[in-house]
Amino acid sequence: MDRTRAITELAKRRGFFFGADEAYGGVAGFYTFGPEGAALKRNVEAAWRDRFTVREGNDEIEAPTIAPEPVFEASGHLDGFDDMLVECGECGESHRADHLIEDATDIEEAESLPIPEVEELVAAHEIACPSCGAPLAGRSVEEFNLMFETSIGPGSGQPGYLRPETAQGIFVEFPRLKEYARNQLPFGVTQIGRAYRNEISPRKGIVRTREFTQAELEQFVDPDADEPPLDRVADVSLRLYPADEQEDPEGGYVERTVGEAVEEGIIESDWVAYYLGVAREWYERIGVDDDRFRFRQHLPGERAHYAADCWDAESEVSGAVSDDPTVGDWIEIAGFAYRGDYDLSKHAEHSDDDFTVFQQYDEPKTVERAVVEPDMSVLGPEFGGKAGNVADELRALAERDPSAFEADEVTVTVDGEDVTVDADVANFRIEEQTEAGEHVTPHIVEPSFGVDRTVYTLLAHGYDEDEVDDEERTYLSLAPEVAPTDVAVFPLVSDDALETLADDVVADLREAGLSVAHDDSGNIGRRYRRQDEVGTPLSVTVDHESIENDPTTVTVRDRDTTAQVRVPVADLATELQVVLQS
Ligand code: GAP
Repeated sequence: MDRTRAITELAKRRGFFFGADEAYGGVAGFYTFGPEGAALKRNVEAAWRDRFTVREGNDEIEAPTIAPEPVFEASGHLDGFDDMLVECGECGESHRADHLIEDATDIEEAESLPIPEVEELVAAHEIACPSCGAPLAGRSVEEFNLMFETSIGPGSGQPGYLRPETAQGIFVEFPRLKEYARNQLPFGVTQIGRAYRNEISPRKGIVRTREFTQAELEQFVDPDADEPPLDRVADVSLRLYPADEQEDPEGGYVERTVGEAVEEGIIESDWVAYYLGVAREWYERIGVDDDRFRFRQHLPGERAHYAADCWDAESEVSGAVSDDPTVGDWIEIAGFAYRGDYDLSKHAEHSDDDFTVFQQYDEPKTVERAVVEPDMSVLGPEFGGKAGNVADELRALAERDPSAFEADEVTVTVDGEDVTVDADVANFRIEEQTEAGEHVTPHIVEPSFGVDRTVYTLLAHGYDEDEVDDEERTYLSLAPEVAPTDVAVFPLVSDDALETLADDVVADLREAGLSVAHDDSGNIGRRYRRQDEVGTPLSVTVDHESIENDPTTVTVRDRDTTAQVRVPVADLATELQVVLQS
């Protein structure tokens, strides 16, 4: 069975995730996380919060998942958040044209191609509809906006959208968040929450869905002044797949430490490099396999409308381990974008709020300023109601081009008409002023993680098969920090004394803060297999020796090695905690 199917079947059988609303036929792209999956996902979120919010000293917020249209007009999503759709003339199913091309050819990132070229490729490669097999040649390819639209309030209401990324909820609240940060750059704000995209063709279970969870960090920095603490991660080793290596048919991976990658200019932004290092360590901590993990730089045509540079964290999910980057099934699990001042400038342009931060200088500075004080007693009679606008344009011109006031007359445009005034009336002069600081529009560096894809990667990388006691077994080698359950407790056989002791052990371990599964039905081998399949790192068995011995002992079995040791019950909680935290 191929790896994707095996994982999907395991996920369904053992309660990790399954298609939502199946009682009503279900809809593609929506999944419910069952008890094991929800616990695994929460643990991933907790580990992310610990690393990217708490340890980085950032603030976390929770914004609404619906926002009114002007937010997405400003962000650029209304105009630019599109995928390429081709509809089958035969069965009416819609597909992503770029994905069909990628599947049928060796072209990568077809989404960056212009539409006419995509239409030509669909025809030239005789691409057929994946649902019914009818040829798609001759069908038009269209831009399809991925946002879910809704209406806020009764009646026709006001148009709103389900957020396609959690990020906008942070950007739009920047005027308040900067006050909370006391106008001190750099500062970071995080958010973990649902995002919604009306994907044309959801695929691979929870890898591409229409409702998913993002964990995003927006780092606000002064581009001219703030440096990341690079030395903390300078020695972290990265497997990089830069754009120029992808464009070279012979290209391959470049292995560098964070420090080397910055020094050699492979990663342009120090802030992006810093977060690649932090992320690399975090992924390792939660159980992502080094050999099936890389950072791939976006090709120039592939970047989102807001990104000046972007690297993706990618994981391989088919089981392939290779030095050849073209081998394997790679999925994007996070993006690290340098968004510059794009977002804050756009929100400043579209709203009346102030999206800048006042940066105080160490010492006040004396600067020369062009000043215009138009003589309104002349402008008033000459221009009537427009006099104020003329004065404003003169002031703006003085800031833009002070040399314009060297001539006898100055011309500005008001309401589309050129207006000429005497330079003396403008009353132009250069003045020395003392300034305490300046208004800066912060730049944004954004590590953006897909939680569902991280969960999928942990299942794919943890999935293993071996033989125990001449029987095949499947197990999930999950890191204890994220495993849904810490420990399972079993009485070996049905026996009152053993069951009583097992109940006491369960109560003690829960009291000590461990998550415990208690299973007393079925043969012990099957109970072990069940826990192995959901990734429980340790199992405790209460047997007859337990109650015969003094002190009372139980056996503790390791999931991966299946090795067992005997531990006194009195020390059990402490010993388990040591193993789980090691
Ligand atoms: N704020 C930046 C942003 O949203 P993105 O690359 O579009 O960037 C970030 O999304 C992450 O969200 C991706 O790396 C991926 O892990 C996850 N993601 C995006 N679309 C998804 C989908 N349809 N289903 C599941 N996860 C998705």
